[in-house]
Amino acid sequence: MTAQDTLFRPFTSDTLTLKNRIVMAPMTRSMSPGNVPNDKVVDYYRRRAEGGVGLIITEGTIVDHPAASGYPDVPAIYGADALAGWARVVEAVHAAGGKIAPQLWHVGAVRRPGVAPGGDTPGYSPSGMARPGKVTGHAMTQRDIDDVVAAFAKGAADAKKIGFDAVEIHGAHGYLIDQFFWDGTNARDDAYGGDLAARSRFALEIVAAVRAAVGPDFPIILRYSQWKQQDYSARLCDTPEALGAFLGPLADAGVDIFHCSTRRFWQPEFDGSDLNLAGWTRKLTGKPAIAVGSVGLNSDFLPEDGTGAFNAGEPASIDNLIERMARDEFDLVAVGRALIANPDWANRVKAGDFAALVPYDKSLLATLS
Ligand code: PHB
Repeated sequence: MTAQDTLFRPFTSDTLTLKNRIVMAPMTRSMSPGNVPNDKVVDYYRRRAEGGVGLIITEGTIVDHPAASGYPDVPAIYGADALAGWARVVEAVHAAGGKIAPQLWHVGAVRRPGVAPGGDTPGYSPSGMARPGKVTGHAMTQRDIDDVVAAFAKGAADAKKIGFDAVEIHGAHGYLIDQFFWDGTNARDDAYGGDLAARSRFALEIVAAVRAAVGPDFPIILRYSQWKQQDYSARLCDTPEALGAFLGPLADAGVDIFHCSTRRFWQPEFDGSDLNLAGWTRKLTGKPAIAVGSVGLNSDFLPEDGTGAFNAGEPASIDNLIERMARDEFDLVAVGRALIANPDWANRVKAGDFAALVPYDKSLLATLS
């Protein structure tokens, strides 16, 4: 099968229809001064929609809580100015024939005081830890938990109101929701700590609140990962049985699509099968799954040597990806850095014009091209 037969088939689920299987991966760009997406942000996303992407998942957008932001100039998903900016992004993407979901984000203990907005607010997290054994911030009270759950629900409701096609909840990579999932950062002895089922309670409350806010027909994507930025080898689940037990309640709470973040999409998740994390997720939950991880490039987003995110890379073959899509191992594939370098990545691939794809280099992060 060719890329045309696999990547460029329409996608249909209970709640979402897309013209093809290509998703723009969420990527922090820190290009929204005052936490408001501006004209450059509008044009940046418009170019990817014009370039043929079926679904754009935006960079992380901070929910309305004082500790949500961990990085400068990331866009908010609250406040009149930010929402007006996003409404223009949505309009531009729709006019170019694409669909778009904001990623709803709270960084938890990754935050350091001083990052705007939020002033001196410390990092908030289940047990005050950004990494195992090291308390650096505030351990959340029940009131804090309720506030953050409400902030996610409000962000989702506003996203729907201004025309977004879906929302993604960021539950991955060692940020707040994942700090609850991970036993390394969750040492609580109340209902939000204990075994993985209990450590999932916070996420389940967020998903249920988002579902209640957007109604039954609006797509909710949950991004999760085994790996943490604090520890690439960390895992929430060591077996398919454990993964099924983890994901089932999240699906029941209202997740329609799982976005299964791995650093390399081709790696098997468990011994004895070729299936990657998205493949297992689809098989175990019956829900559509998005795969992601170094698609179209010969390098990892986060290199082993700790030299920071958004590592450079050369174009790489997508034959393996096409074979997996042809087997319906997963439903959708998210493309990250290759889409920063090549806004028209999807159209180029559709045309078989692989020779036109250019390498991705960190210098591209300096502007929103
Ligand atoms: C990053 O900005 O490097 C970043 C942001 C969110 C993630 C991972 C990395 O989930």
